[in-house]
Amino acid sequence: MCGIIGILSNTLVAERLIDGLSRLEYRGYDSAGVATIYENTITKRRAEGKLQSLKDLLQQKPLPGTVGIGHTRWATHGSPTHQNAHPHATDRVAVVHNGIIENYQLLKDGLIKDGVIFKSETDTEVVVHLIDQALQAGKSPDIAVKETLSKLHGAFALAIIFKEHSDMLMGARRGSPLVLGICDDELFLGSDAWALAPWTQKICYLEEGDVVVMKRDNGFAYTIFNEAWQPINRLVKHLNLATGAASKGGYSHFMLKEIFEQSQTLSDTFLSLIDEETHTSRINLPIDFSGEHVRIRLIACGSSYYASLTAKYWFEKYAQVLCEVDLASEFRYRDPVLSKHDICVFVSQSGETSDTLAALNLAKSKGCITLAIVNVPESSMTRAADHHILTLAGPEIGVASTKAFSAQLAVLCALALHAAAQRKSMDTISTHLRELLHVPKLVAQVLQDVSLFDELGLRLSQTRDVLFIGRGTNYPIALEGALKLKEISYIHAEAYAAGELKHGPIALVDKLTPLIAIAPNDGWFEKTSSNIQEVATRGAPIIVLTDDPMFTVNCLEFRKILLPKSTPLSACFIYTAAVQCIAYYTALHKGTDVDQPRNLAKSVTVE
Ligand code: M6R
Repeated sequence: MCGIIGILSNTLVAERLIDGLSRLEYRGYDSAGVATIYENTITKRRAEGKLQSLKDLLQQKPLPGTVGIGHTRWATHGSPTHQNAHPHATDRVAVVHNGIIENYQLLKDGLIKDGVIFKSETDTEVVVHLIDQALQAGKSPDIAVKETLSKLHGAFALAIIFKEHSDMLMGARRGSPLVLGICDDELFLGSDAWALAPWTQKICYLEEGDVVVMKRDNGFAYTIFNEAWQPINRLVKHLNLATGAASKGGYSHFMLKEIFEQSQTLSDTFLSLIDEETHTSRINLPIDFSGEHVRIRLIACGSSYYASLTAKYWFEKYAQVLCEVDLASEFRYRDPVLSKHDICVFVSQSGETSDTLAALNLAKSKGCITLAIVNVPESSMTRAADHHILTLAGPEIGVASTKAFSAQLAVLCALALHAAAQRKSMDTISTHLRELLHVPKLVAQVLQDVSLFDELGLRLSQTRDVLFIGRGTNYPIALEGALKLKEISYIHAEAYAAGELKHGPIALVDKLTPLIAIAPNDGWFEKTSSNIQEVATRGAPIIVLTDDPMFTVNCLEFRKILLPKSTPLSACFIYTAAVQCIAYYTALHKGTDVDQPRNLAKSVTVE
């Protein structure tokens, strides 16, 4: 979602604002803009579409100034036009904003009554006019911001510059992430630390309700105010982030690179959780899974939710503990019955997803034990949860989650076995843990030759609808396969538990709707085979992903992709890589924007 950058310096900032925005591109956006103060005037440059358009504009019309703010906008209120692109400004103040001002219409109505003329359809513009009104009334910038913030409802992060104070930059955080970057001779704001990494690794993560006032006087200084507007010291961390631009490393897309990295990232994640020599769990959490009343609740969104659905099978089968899985956006509003025996596990690549974060805060407020499984180390969720485990997938740039998803599966599986060990619910734990250590090799085998996925992608790129089926842990993988396909190829895809087909969805089957069946030769193979046959009989093209070399179906169009021999534990990792490849090659043949698909954001920081 929207990305924010701010720089207060002694040297020109426009080029670096763009550079910072390019490091936030992965979040997803549809317009971009920057503003600086130069010769006592706020000047903006804004452009629709990709950052290149803004760069071209700045080439034609350079932007001097040593203080500035920049923004990549993921449209919420108002379409992605030049007029709605940030920064929004009056003569006195310019603002960039990530999040949603929920009471903007009420505020806007009041401002219009006061004679204010709005130039955009955004919720952000009310913030600009409220600060402007306060400045006009003679308030200092910090008081103008303080008064404005007190009128806003919703979740947001803001960066603000003032025409009359070109030595000042302000930031505010409520619900959306914002970091302060510190140098002796410069100060920065960013939606994440990665955006600031080339200039500083001294980072302060602003907390909920914090406002930072940054000033350039004789030197550079900042003050952080908490929600009660008390000056407060926040921890400054020295990070060690890569400073280079993310590279595709010779692959045509980040997504393809990330699919291929999985053998390594899975290995990294497993080795952080499992002792290679003893095949015992290395998970060291002060959480007791053994209690009689313990309940596991897995809460997440999107792909992370599907990883959680997969894990339900493991927690119940291996640890024999009741496990419920919730969509964070539902959980947070449905008055869930929670108890202090509940171990609430929040699964998220970014660690910033607003619904998951809100669900986490709800669980905490009810006294539950909270554990975050997160890929971004210094994210809001790692800081908010009682405990966390990192998925070691490394930075994931493609908007469609791939290696982060498989790393979530890895952590959740190892966690379920760790819980099983504490609960003494099975006696083959070390065999299972050893088996997990072989998974990276199996995933590498899937990716050894992707030509069949490429051919299949060409075929699927001509379809409008696709059905996926799977059973057991492969049912959530079918859901994930359908989500991946929708996200990056824009082809309508649905996934069902194979046994559910004849309870309704089979009505969708016709010769134009291919079926992709995830069908390892496991305990349910015969049942899934019958389901495939039922669809084949009705004329649908059949694509079967299986490890059974003999499997065949008599139908008009049949394709089989033979995958490495799997076990009930390893299957979901193998079939995940396969469905990712299917989605990737289909999108490639359709010619869509694989890494930044339309309308999607990497980090969903609004509801
Ligand atoms: O960062 P999170 O894992 O919390 O994000 C959750 C979803 O937004 C995310 O998984 C989304 O569904 C991806 N685009 C999937 O590819």
